[in-house]
Order: sequence, then C-alpha cells, then structure tokens
Amino acid sequence: MAADTLPSRPDPLRALLRRMPKAELHLHIEGSLEPELIFRLAARNGVKLPYPSVEALRAAYAFTDLQSFLDLYYAGASVLLKEEDFFDLAFAYFERAAADNVVHAEIFFDPQTHTARGVPMAAVVHGLAHACQRAHAEYGISSALVLCFLRHLSEDDAFATLEAALPHRQHFIGVGLDSSERGHPPEKFARVFARARELGLHLVAHAGEEGPAATIETALDVLKVERIDHGVRCTESPALIERLARQRVPLTVCPLSNVKLCVVPDLAAHPLPALLDAGLCATINSDDPAYFGGYVVDNYLQLFAAHPRMGVQQARQLALNSFEASFVGAEQKARWARELDAVIERLAG
Ligand code: ADE
Ligand code: ZN
Repeated sequence: MAADTLPSRPDPLRALLRRMPKAELHLHIEGSLEPELIFRLAARNGVKLPYPSVEALRAAYAFTDLQSFLDLYYAGASVLLKEEDFFDLAFAYFERAAADNVVHAEIFFDPQTHTARGVPMAAVVHGLAHACQRAHAEYGISSALVLCFLRHLSEDDAFATLEAALPHRQHFIGVGLDSSERGHPPEKFARVFARARELGLHLVAHAGEEGPAATIETALDVLKVERIDHGVRCTESPALIERLARQRVPLTVCPLSNVKLCVVPDLAAHPLPALLDAGLCATINSDDPAYFGGYVVDNYLQLFAAHPRMGVQQARQLALNSFEASFVGAEQKARWARELDAVIERLAG
C-alpha cells in the first residue's frame, strides 16, 4: 500500500512530514539508481544486463540480509561509466529530494565500485559534484559528498582510494565506511581513518546495522567517527544508549532499509521511537531508496503509520536532529529550525 493511502494517521501530520524542511544524511548515491535508469544507461553505454526488463529486475529485489542486497547493488552500478552517468544519477536523486523538501543532503559515494572497473576517479567526482551544483541552483538544496571505503576490501585499497581522491579534495567533506559489516570490523580501517582525520575530513561509519553494539563503540573510540550510520543495534546495550544520548552522537537511521534487509521484522518493531524517547540524536534517512521501496518522506510516513503514538513533537524532533547532525554551521542550522517552526505553525499549529 502506498504510504499516502495509509489510513491510520491524520492528514495534517502526513502533510507536515512531507512539507517540513529536513536534511538527509544517509543516502548512497548508487542506491538511488532506479531500474528505469539502469536500463537507460545500459542502452546508452552498450552494457548487457542479465535481466530482460525493468519489471524482472525489480522483481529480483527481495533480500534476506545485507549481503544479498549488496550483490545486486554492485551489479546495478556496472552501468555507470561516464561523468554524465554520475551526473544523471545524482540529479535524479535531487529531483526526488526536492519533492520531499530535503533542504540539505550529505551523500555517500563508493568510488572503489567504479575505479575497480576502470572508471576514472575524476569522472565519478566531477559528475556528482556537477549535479550538487545544479541542485543548488535549481532547487536551493545544499549538499556535500562523503567518500565511503568498502570494508570488504583491504585497508591498503582504502588508502589508495583516498590518495586518488585527494586531487578532488574540494569536492568531498568526509569519509565513511560501508559494505559488508560481518567479518570487517571498524578497527580494520584504523590507520586510514587516522589519516583522513589528519587531513581535516569529517568521519562517519556504518556500524551496528548487522554487527553488534560493540562495533558502534569501536567506530567511536578507534575510528573517532562523528556520526554512526544505522547504529540500531545499540538497543542491545543500555550503557551504550546512555552514552550516545549523553554525547549527542547522531545515528542516521534508515527504517525501510532495516525492514528490507531483515535487521528488524517490521516497522512496528523498529526501535527508532524508543531511541528518540531515550534522548538520542536519531535521524530518518533512506539509505538506498531505489532498492528499499521509498525515499526519505516514505520512510517518515511509513514509520509514523506503524507507530500511532508518534506525532508532531516527534516529527519536529527528527527534523531538528537532522539539522543538528549535519556538517553545516550553527547559523544555517538555526535558520532551518526557524523555517521548520514556521511550517509547523502553518500546518499543525
Ligand atoms: N552500501 C549501501 N547500502 C549499505 C548498507 N545499508 N549497509 C552497508 N553498506 C551499504
Ligand atoms: Zn547505508
């Protein structure tokens, strides 16, 4: 059922979730590659796909865990070859983000997925950066790129990737860590994160998605990350929840992703409302929207529909958290907070 037709929530709340300004901080640009665009780019680039149609490809999106998704996600990215492909990919995301009233996006990209296939780093970064500039000009959306290291590859490979990206340093603000969590703990990347820190880059990492709560602590203490991507398995440790709340460590949570990858059985069982109650700086994001059935507003709408006790107060807190957790200055955060309250006054006051 489409989120907008979910009967259980009042219209003004749905309008607020859609219309309120928000930041998106956990979005893999390769995960916004819709099947239609995969087919269009495959035709443009002469890439043969193992699926006969968009519908057949979409039908394959039934995942049992993170790895079963990653296998398809990396295969999908094989149609991205030229700078204009990366531009088209990112600009298509920004069109969806504008419709969702995203005012700011911090966007992950996985250069190793592309450079391993012979795509130049410059084509990846320039195509994405160009789309970021165009999105600002056309939609007023500010954005920044975060380079993710693939944790199933070696730390040496991550070092080589950082080195190859440094000529484009002005186009990205930080580094992250994604891909298969099992068997690839944060400490595997301690040295390359230390180097990124010396370079003045922001640091984030996926942790506590499939891995246990202890990996969240390692990401904080060894990698010294400023935000945790996912982090939902912090619920296994009351002491860690207390720490995350006290230190206001943001969690970039992705509810639909967690259901599709079987991290939680369903949205009703999702821990995000409890994390908000515990005072954490939890945010809502879409992760890989083309694969998980919804962009950021779909995540808000469906989570709120599954938790009838969530209302205007939680909506406001989540938007404020998204600004607080972003890597922008305090004045801009205050401006967005004022815009948020004006929208709440208009729609729910
Ligand atoms: N890469 C893209 N989406 C991811 C996720 N949810 N977890 C880890 N790596 C990813
Ligand atoms: Zn992710």
